[in-house]
Amino acid sequence: MRAAVIREYGSNDVVEIAEIERPEPVAGEVLVKVHAAGVNPVDWKIRGGVGQRMGMTLPIHLGGELVGTVEKLGSGVNTVQRGETVFGMVNTGAFAEYAVAKAVNLVRTPDNLDFIHAAALPLAGSTAWQALFDEAGLTPGIRLLVTNGSGGVGSLAVQFAKAVGAHVTAVASGRNERFVRDLGADDFIDYTSQPFEEAAGGIDIVLDTVGGETFHRAFKTLKKGGRMVTVVAFPDDEAERFGVSVKRSFTIPSGRNLTAIKELVEVGKVVAHIDTVLPLAEIKQALALSEAGRARGKIVLAIQG
Ligand SMILES: NC(=O)c1ccc[n+]([C@@H]2O[C@H](COP(=O)([O-])OP(=O)(O)OC[C@H]3O[C@@H](n4cnc5c(N)ncnc54)[C@H](OP(=O)(O)O)[C@@H]3O)[C@@H](O)[C@H]2O)c1
Repeated sequence: MRAAVIREYGSNDVVEIAEIERPEPVAGEVLVKVHAAGVNPVDWKIRGGVGQRMGMTLPIHLGGELVGTVEKLGSGVNTVQRGETVFGMVNTGAFAEYAVAKAVNLVRTPDNLDFIHAAALPLAGSTAWQALFDEAGLTPGIRLLVTNGSGGVGSLAVQFAKAVGAHVTAVASGRNERFVRDLGADDFIDYTSQPFEEAAGGIDIVLDTVGGETFHRAFKTLKKGGRMVTVVAFPDDEAERFGVSVKRSFTIPSGRNLTAIKELVEVGKVVAHIDTVLPLAEIKQALALSEAGRARGKIVLAIQG
């Protein structure tokens, strides 16, 4: 079968589509025929060397989320069945014709979603979900600021927050104003035309998916006792100076989170926005597009029909 593989860390030059053995599911795993796989910044970060810091060993089969048909069950699996279409996160190997996944991390795809839109949800969706609800404790009426409302994570976070009745301020560039307002954002700040921290205040929760200077400046938008969750920065004791708290969220695969997201999708409250669809053979272009950092919503690889 064909799979996107790296045998060393580096630029896109190290990425190849290789012919490799089809993997075999062990206990608790299933083999999935992959229809589509979402591309995320973590994929090019792993390729560039972060894989080593994450404890991965070369060669690495790239790809962290998929939608596909269950082909074979490992022993002890009873939560999904052969022939079902499922979606979810995998540790590695989603950019391939077949992949193995832990059965507990897979959920049947919503009936109202095609493969491309389903593939866009698991990783960015779980990231937004865990940061907003598990880490920050978002509840109705809370004032939320999302530092990047137009990216894969932020565009879902805006919709999740609106679905529970939060008040959402989305930071994005002017070209994405219509997009984030259509997602449901109550307020919009164009970060390219003014410092966003001067235009926002009294915020209860900040979700930061940008990091760097944006992360530091976002503290100024929080009210005393407010909470910041970042999925990018590594916080120090800076939050204390502002009288707020900060947490770093690391996304873990979660069938439970995905089931909750699926319910919002099924009632039409959440839609993944697709920026670009490419075939597996164009994996380098897909990674380059993600790395350029301008995608509106998600980049997805269409793999097998
Ligand atoms: N900790 C974890 O477990 C975890 C999990 C998932 C993701 N992440 C990280 O979260 C980050 C975001 O991921 P993503 O998939 O949402 O990214 P993404 O989709 O690649 O983000 C692209 C979007 O960011 C916007 N953007 C670029 N610079 C910006 C800025 N300074 N302020 C506001 N918006 C800006 C771009 O629009 P414009 O160019 O028009 O502004 C574009 O729409 C990545 O670094 C990723 O690695 C971490």
